[in-house]
Amino acid sequence: MSTTLVTGGTGGLGRPTVEALRSRGHEVDILSRHPGAMRVTGDLDRDSGLEAAVASAATIVHLATNRRRDCHGTENLLRAAANAGVEHVVYVSIVGVEDIPYFYYRDKVRCEAVIEGSGIPFTILRATQFHSFPVELIELQHRLATTRVLDISLQTIAVAEVAERLAELASESPAGRVEDVGGPEILSFAEVAEIWHRAHGAAKTVRTLHLGGRTVRGFRAGHHMTGLPGFGRETFAEFAARAARASNGP
Ligand SMILES: NC(=O)c1ccc[n+]([C@@H]2O[C@H](COP(=O)([O-])OP(=O)(O)OC[C@H]3O[C@@H](n4cnc5c(N)ncnc54)[C@H](OP(=O)(O)O)[C@@H]3O)[C@@H](O)[C@H]2O)c1
Repeated sequence: MSTTLVTGGTGGLGRPTVEALRSRGHEVDILSRHPGAMRVTGDLDRDSGLEAAVASAATIVHLATNRRRDCHGTENLLRAAANAGVEHVVYVSIVGVEDIPYFYYRDKVRCEAVIEGSGIPFTILRATQFHSFPVELIELQHRLATTRVLDISLQTIAVAEVAERLAELASESPAGRVEDVGGPEILSFAEVAEIWHRAHGAAKTVRTLHLGGRTVRGFRAGHHMTGLPGFGRETFAEFAARAARASNGP
């Protein structure tokens, strides 16, 4: 039976995507560097285990990231996929990557080009930042009484909603670049931090930093957002309340 291989299937986006694919009837394999149940072991950067990983795959949902430079691993994956006759590659990218000169976004542009030039029918979905993205930056400062944030806006989206959309796209015919998805509201980063602290009962102040540079200017211009109405439904406040309930236990 042909399978759907999910790279990054153990990650923040990958876990709900695997669930969404399975609930649509896909037979899913997860590519991971670490052995485990339902996993095929391989490493995109080292080009190891990929031939075996793609051997039974009709579709690949490519979500893996080392959060620095994914282009080389993407080339390795697509070479193996082309040799194995994979029929559809679904790739997740980020809204506005060509307009913001952040090193990771430049690499996403190159990854998109690798997929587009692979000869394998593909679908590319660009999403805005996940709700968890600003939280990582806020929580890095958890020991400080004041949280410092950039003077930019965010249109964060629930990862489960991106996962559901990816599973839908993987169940359909290859569609090329499809419409971007973004969250249901646009908030300043300061508002996001205040909502997060309020939901967790943390008495912290939030200070906005005004930095220069082309990357920050790209974010300040809003190239990383789709505009409203967004695709997502869950607001950041709902996400923060859910996270606070989970951290308080049952
Ligand atoms: N975070 C955001 O706000 C955001 C927004 C839009 C799009 N995206 C995109 O969404 C995708 C998933 O992001 P995420 O936040 O879910 O990532 P994540 O939680 O950091 O997970 C990274 C995944 O990549 C796998 N991985 C890393 N290096 C690998 C390698 N060398 N070989 C094989 N697998 C490797 C890891 O698997 P193992 O550790 O099991 O090997 C893990 O499952 C990325 O493409 C990202 O650019 C993210």
